Amino acid sequence: MESQPRSACVVGGTGFMASLLVKLLLLKGYSVNTTVRDKGNNEKISHLLALKNLGNLEIFQADLTDETSFDDPIAGSDFVFHVATPVNFASEDPQNDMIKPAIQGVINVMKACAKAGTVKRVVLTSSAATVSINQLNETGLMVMDENNWTDVEFLTSAKPPTWGYLVSKTLAEKAAWKFAVENNIDLVTVIPPLMAGPSLTPQIPGSVTLATSLIIGNKFLMNSLNGMQKLSGSISLSHVKDVCRAHILVAEKDTAYGRYICCAVNTSVCELADFLRQRYPMYNLPTDLGDVPSKAKLIISSDKLLNEGFKFEYGIEEIYDQSVAYLKEKGVTF
Ligand SMILES: NC(=O)c1ccc[n+]([C@@H]2O[C@H](COP(=O)([O-])OP(=O)(O)OC[C@H]3O[C@@H](n4cnc5c(N)ncnc54)[C@H](OP(=O)(O)O)[C@@H]3O)[C@@H](O)[C@H]2O)c1
Repeated sequence: MESQPRSACVVGGTGFMASLLVKLLLLKGYSVNTTVRDKGNNEKISHLLALKNLGNLEIFQADLTDETSFDDPIAGSDFVFHVATPVNFASEDPQNDMIKPAIQGVINVMKACAKAGTVKRVVLTSSAATVSINQLNETGLMVMDENNWTDVEFLTSAKPPTWGYLVSKTLAEKAAWKFAVENNIDLVTVIPPLMAGPSLTPQIPGSVTLATSLIIGNKFLMNSLNGMQKLSGSISLSHVKDVCRAHILVAEKDTAYGRYICCAVNTSVCELADFLRQRYPMYNLPTDLGDVPSKAKLIISSDKLLNEGFKFEYGIEEIYDQSVAYLKEKGVTF
């Protein structure tokens, strides 16, 4: 591990993962700048305001589509964690609601990093959605790694549900790599699968309700889970805290480079339902899981991250025990 730089900017601090990342950085002694879209909305940023007790946290207003809004929060930072992304699954215009602003956001954030002149490394939060879509063949279980890239042409022509988000993540990461090479920026990307676990945010994150949809009995989200498995080949999961820990590790480790998959669990909807039925016999888990293959066709491998010395702290048991406890605390009944 290298000497300890102590300032970081987290772009999009209000989010599920980013707010926990801000907390972990503060606990490690970092001075943290973070950006939100609406600094005047005390309710929406209440969880960030509460973190000010932990250390030196400054909150700035910035929007991915506003080229210069990142200059001040990024100025003087050692590390920049670009976590924010436009998410609008109900959009009728994904091109303008997600794809363009995600790409524009990456460029705007990285331009501000180049201007700052202090940034040692940019860590971009990508997604497993950038790896495996339309890469499967029919030859049984496949293993994919950081060399695999989702087929954007397939997504834009077939337009499966959520295609706009999947394209936005893939093209945003590709734009980041292009900008980094052309402007000599040290970039590392972290590739999480579906994240769950307790959240600091005022609202329950959509990814936690999606991951627990079989337990809470949300049919629409159960269908989405099936869709996810059919499109990407597996249900892949990590605890949000492990994903944050991976971001910090690849920022701090000088020799880290390229992309890093951070996936604790590779499973299928049917195997997940079996696991949940056994672990939580008191809940009414569905028996009819609809039209979805019983087994995963894919493992997305975290070997590269593990080889950097990363250890997952949370497996499937902890991910679900903690998510269930969190939902109960939030008053969700199931
Ligand atoms: N959650 C998952 O399961 C999952 C899985 C794989 C990858 N990821 C990736 O991990 C990252 C974090 O995910 P998350 O679920 O924690 O995010 P999230 O809770 O949905 O938060 C999204 C964040 O993006 C910000 N944002 C959206 N549009 C913006 C814009 N135009 N300008 C500035 N900020 C904007 C939001 O800011 P405001 O609140 O200020 O509006 C919010 O802080 C994302 O990059 C996501 O793609 C997530």
